[in-house]
Amino acid sequence: MSTQTPKQTDESSETDAETEVPSKGDERRDEKRRRAAEERARRQAEEAEKAAADEETVELKVFRYDPEIEGKQEPRFDTFHVPFTKGMTVLDALMYSRDTYDSSLTFRHSCRQAVCGSDAMFVNGGQKLACKTQISELEEPIRVEPLPHADVEKDLVVDLEHFYDQMEAVEPYFQTNEYPDGELEEQRQTRENREKIKMSTRCIWCSACMSSCNIAAGDNEYLGPAAINKAYRFAMDDREGEEIKQKRLEIIEQEHGVWRCQTQFSCTEVCPKDIPLTEHIQELKREAVKNNLKFW
Ligand code: SF4
Ligand code: FES
Repeated sequence: MSTQTPKQTDESSETDAETEVPSKGDERRDEKRRRAAEERARRQAEEAEKAAADEETVELKVFRYDPEIEGKQEPRFDTFHVPFTKGMTVLDALMYSRDTYDSSLTFRHSCRQAVCGSDAMFVNGGQKLACKTQISELEEPIRVEPLPHADVEKDLVVDLEHFYDQMEAVEPYFQTNEYPDGELEEQRQTRENREKIKMSTRCIWCSACMSSCNIAAGDNEYLGPAAINKAYRFAMDDREGEEIKQKRLEIIEQEHGVWRCQTQFSCTEVCPKDIPLTEHIQELKREAVKNNLKFW
């Protein structure tokens, strides 16, 4: 028994040495190593993702039509394979196709940030702004066509003359014959009134709503959702005054005005600026009814 005692003492002191608590300096070094390893792993994953994306291509089927060039007058679809990059939009893919494969491919664009409204198209069966539509969110092959219900001039470019005429018909600019008293040089709007018309002011004249509307497709004289929204923007602006509001209501009450809307919501669904178009049309209908009520 007595010969085993020193051995037991040795084992217990070895165990104490193994479980020795690490110093603060060791802990910091371990933490640093752990963070460096994590950062290396993150970079490697990013590079692998980028390499995989670089190898990926997307298939675009683009509507082509050129009435002025012999042999191209028959509408057709051309297929383009475009190298995919993270964040690529339909507009990016079209620009790549034009710059790389066929410089005659024609489409409108300008701001590339959903502000100018010039690149509304029919992408995979829906009206969209090409610069706002991510390739990664679309099913392949991606079908790109000009806006429906408008005459095609060339490839993806449609004639917007009729759309602009309808916008013009509602006199889309501020008018008033009532001025505030006093020395104020500007006509201030209340916060509440600004809030009321806020969404209606966001229209970028892209005509996606008009293209999606069945009523506009069947009635060429229908003002259409964008023009009615524009009328709403000014009719609901308190600074214009009652007299001008009456004039605006007369315009939207006409045979091809608000009453043609059948609340199908297609315009609201496609509007890239999320304007509640159908709601605005309904509100103008209520205004028109109130305007025509007579009390004896
Ligand atoms: S209301 Fe919306 S969809 Fe219609 S023209 Fe304006 S921004 Fe485009
Ligand atoms: S390019 Fe201007 S809205 Fe798309």
